[in-house]
Amino acid sequence: MNPFEGKNIVVGVGGGIAVYRVCELVRLLMKRGAAVHAAMTKNAQEFVTPVTFEALTGHPVLTDLFDLSQKAIFGHLELGRRADLFIAAPATANLIARIRMGMGDDAVTTTILSCACPVLLAPAMNVQMWKNRQVQENVGALKRDGRFSFVGPGSGTLACGTVGEGRLSEPDEIVDAAEKLLTPQDMAGLKVVVTAGPTREMADPVRFLTNPSTGKMGFAVAKAAAMRGASVTLVSGPVSLKTPMGVRRVDAVSAIQMQRTVNEALGAGADMFISAAAVCDQRPAEVSPHKVKKEALSSELELVRTPDILKESRAQFGDARIPARPLFVGFAAETERAAENARAKLVGKKLDMVAANDVTEAGSGFGTETNRLVLVTAQGENALPPMTKEGAANELLTEALKLLGRRDADAGKGA
Ligand code: C5P
Repeated sequence: MNPFEGKNIVVGVGGGIAVYRVCELVRLLMKRGAAVHAAMTKNAQEFVTPVTFEALTGHPVLTDLFDLSQKAIFGHLELGRRADLFIAAPATANLIARIRMGMGDDAVTTTILSCACPVLLAPAMNVQMWKNRQVQENVGALKRDGRFSFVGPGSGTLACGTVGEGRLSEPDEIVDAAEKLLTPQDMAGLKVVVTAGPTREMADPVRFLTNPSTGKMGFAVAKAAAMRGASVTLVSGPVSLKTPMGVRRVDAVSAIQMQRTVNEALGAGADMFISAAAVCDQRPAEVSPHKVKKEALSSELELVRTPDILKESRAQFGDARIPARPLFVGFAAETERAAENARAKLVGKKLDMVAANDVTEAGSGFGTETNRLVLVTAQGENALPPMTKEGAANELLTEALKLLGRRDADAGKGA
């Protein structure tokens, strides 16, 4: 399930210079499958005309409650009644104040009053305005209310030329915050530790052993778990991916560093450990502190085994049963007989689930956007069709929730 599919989102546009970036936000929301309607304040229309949002959304824009022609289209409070989510962007100091006071003095605030759905505010204003005590009091009051949540503002150079907090969040960050509000929170209260990416085993400061892992699968698992409400620690090898929203990321370079970090994270308490990292199995026996000159390089490199992080962390819990220990999920990147090899790992490392994939298959494995996983448990095998890594991550988590005995495990199925 895609949380945006079939959803009605109303974007309430406030009057700030950042309004031009809200056009991109609308486009992204629609690309994800949502139907978007726009309502604009009078000030917003000083920056961009309603025609822009009408063209982008494909729907008339609500701008005036007293305009009879608009009344005929929207009916009384029709927009609010159908909304699954309301996004106020840019949420100016003035708009935030009016929402906080429960005012219904224009198209945007009246629509907020008339809908029962969650409201996401994306503030944007000058840094002094954002720091203003009244503004902060209004923000605090809305946060305490429970129905309102905030994304941003970010920091950087503001339209007025000053540097500081007050920038409208990036459109993709606002989309992530919206996705969370539309996603069933079936992992709320769970602590999840995920490893991702390759490790790098240094021979000297400029030479190392590694593998082609990009970290995409592990990052997708971390993002999906966070979207579903889990508290996620992502232990990442060297990758060039953006940390998913709401995820605590700790970087590690070598297998030994990754093991130390994982032990700390598991030691702090975890309900699930999902080991998606492609940990190098070997490392150079000696690490030279200086670059070894080409002339001095030997044709042989002595290697020793790295720790098996997953196996050793599982072994620390001995015969303990869930929930006295975390649920352990491993990955098996194989080039032949993936499911069979995965079952051997399930037993050998005493895991609860192994997600197997054949990395030689097109559209599966290292660096691809998609994956075809077989989820192997003691109970049997669940062969998933090819799907995006985010979709596969959600299926894996749903299966893991069932093993944890969560009755609502099907609620957030797929993405
Ligand atoms: O035995 P194999 O390397 O195929 O097992 C793969 C699984 O074990 C993956 O989940 C991987 O993250 C984990 N692993 C590990 N430490 C290693 C090697 C693999 O945690 N040194």
